[in-house]
Amino acid sequence: MDGNGRWANRRGLARTAGHTEGEENLAALVRVAVTRNVGWLTVFGFSTENWVRPRPEVRHILGLHRKLFGRVAELNELNVRIQWMGRPFDSPQARTPKFVQRAIRTAIAETAANTGMVLTVAFDYGSRTELIHAAEQAVAAGETITEASITSHLYLPELPPVDILVRTSGELRISNFMLWQIAGAKVYFTERTWPEFDGAELDAALALRSPA
Ligand code: FPP
Repeated sequence: MDGNGRWANRRGLARTAGHTEGEENLAALVRVAVTRNVGWLTVFGFSTENWVRPRPEVRHILGLHRKLFGRVAELNELNVRIQWMGRPFDSPQARTPKFVQRAIRTAIAETAANTGMVLTVAFDYGSRTELIHAAEQAVAAGETITEASITSHLYLPELPPVDILVRTSGELRISNFMLWQIAGAKVYFTERTWPEFDGAELDAALALRSPA
């Protein structure tokens, strides 16, 4: 969800205002995605590298994650199941504060019975860290390293391979996001910042879907 900072800068606002707008846009876009029969929507909310941002910005983004995971009533109304993927909370490098952990656990539990779209939020997520973790788990289980064994030890093995990867804000590069899962994915690039990514943009991205 690139471009929250740029969206705010262009309006003479603080970067944090851009993140606030980004969270609201995500909530709006989830509503649209449900009407388009999207089965799985996975968003990059905070990376393992994002902790070095200025402390007030990090605190603000953490608060927005609590807000997003707190939208349980909305998610239930939409029949959306929310998931999280990222560095396990008990790993030595993990820094996720307890209030975010609680919001994540509660939202997952309270939307677990929903059968519609699965919204996965990557928080404290890095793809290379995920792959190292998967390889370590496979080795610890005494498994031979194969594609199937790595896949089965990803943070959320249930996630299907990615069909369409979206990059907002004119970023013409791949980031440290789902590197294993995006093999073969179509890529939709747009100049629009994340807060400007609306239903029409989603439809343009979904037009890349392979025919069923
Ligand atoms: C990128 O914009 C966005 C982030 C680093 C993550 C924060 C995302 C949100 C708060 C959106 C809401 C999502 C959740 C899950 C609460 P940027 O800061 O890199 O902007 P820039 O590229 O213009 O500097």
